[in-house]
Amino acid sequence: MNIETDRAILRPWTERDRQPFAEMSADPAVMQHLLPLNSRAAADAWIDRRMAHLAEHGFSFWALEAKASGDFIGAVGLLRISYEAHFSPAVEVGWRVARRFWGQGYAPEAAAASLRFGFETLGLSEIVANTVPRNTSSRRVMEKLGMSHDAEDDFEHPDIPEGHPLRHQVLYRLPRDRWTATGTV
Ligand SMILES: CC(C)(COP(=O)(O)OP(=O)(O)OC[C@H]1O[C@@H](n2cnc3c(N)ncnc32)[C@H](O)[C@@H]1OP(=O)(O)O)[C@@H](O)C(=O)NCCC(=O)NCCS
Repeated sequence: MNIETDRAILRPWTERDRQPFAEMSADPAVMQHLLPLNSRAAADAWIDRRMAHLAEHGFSFWALEAKASGDFIGAVGLLRISYEAHFSPAVEVGWRVARRFWGQGYAPEAAAASLRFGFETLGLSEIVANTVPRNTSSRRVMEKLGMSHDAEDDFEHPDIPEGHPLRHQVLYRLPRDRWTATGTV
């Protein structure tokens, strides 16, 4: 099943996504605030985990494709939080976009469609998002989506070792009743 936005399509991963995803994952600017995917094998394994999540749960981070050109833009979608935290169980919305597409609103456009899928099709009561405090671009996307941040929700990511620069994370939340009130971007 595909999800269409004005300019893009969220769709299941295919073999032809592996090369552009690996190229995006080798870009230090894209990976600045993310756990590294240092090899083609690591990038392939990341895609494999998203495909398995889709098969198991019916949603995942999908591949994001530009309608007009067919170009691979990035990965956007929904994932079950795989670790235990004060807000789990939960479903997160997330995004990573190839650098040449930054600043064109693709992440919020695709994330808004993911939120709609999460609330209307999956019937979720809340969707969260998290990142490191200094990832201002990602936090802007969360704000554009109407998500809100409470410093009391900040947490230490249990899968990231103590002292690691990515361990401390901010959490944004969007309850369904507030999404319904604000609509989508
Ligand atoms: C976060 C990210 C997905 C945003 O995607 P996008 O499609 O560019 O989103 P937008 O066009 O709405 O831009 C969001 C913000 O990014 C910043 N931004 C835009 N273009 C930028 C550029 N060329 N360079 C640096 N930052 C830029 C701006 O702060 C912008 O906010 P604004 O629209 O109020 O000016 C993208 O920057 C990215 O892939 N980053 C690396 C991966 C990552 O950190 N993912 C999130 C993990 S939690």
